[in-house]
Amino acid sequence: MALLPLVIYPDPRLKKKSLPVEKVTDETRKFMDDMLETMYQEGGIGLAAVQVGVHQRILIMDVERGSKRYGNEPDEKKSAPLFLVNPEITWASEELNSYEEGCLSLPQQYSEVFRPKEVKIRYLDYNGKPREEKWDGLLATCVQHEIDHLDGIVFIDHISAVKRDIIARKLKKMKKAAATN
Ligand code: NI
Repeated sequence: MALLPLVIYPDPRLKKKSLPVEKVTDETRKFMDDMLETMYQEGGIGLAAVQVGVHQRILIMDVERGSKRYGNEPDEKKSAPLFLVNPEITWASEELNSYEEGCLSLPQQYSEVFRPKEVKIRYLDYNGKPREEKWDGLLATCVQHEIDHLDGIVFIDHISAVKRDIIARKLKKMKKAAATN
């Protein structure tokens, strides 16, 4: 497995829509394994292919393992990785809930985002087998956040323009500082 370089906001690649995957192959699986290793390394709970510069409708998640970023030590024994190819939301609840969301492409930035509490989704799994699930809570929020990435949307697109500008400015500054160091 290999670590992949993350695409950091603001980068125009994050705004581009990802394309459907025609077939889940060994190459797709190797890529998903690399994405998973990268996500664990960075301490995230979800990662979309676009965040490593690949515009394919692929995402991975693991909300069970825990992450230092979310206030707990990662526990490898609890790992429950999910691999989703061409995921689609087929139903969303009227009821909303909110989480303090973060994103590996927007380091150290967090904001409360409201989304449907429950969703039904359809996708192809690691072996290319079609699956349908109904998720709620963190899993539902995480999959909606990641599917947004596939459509060129980041979590700060869901918050007020004022808050979004503050975060965007901070990230621009961080990027500039990193480039000149
Ligand atoms: Ni994200």
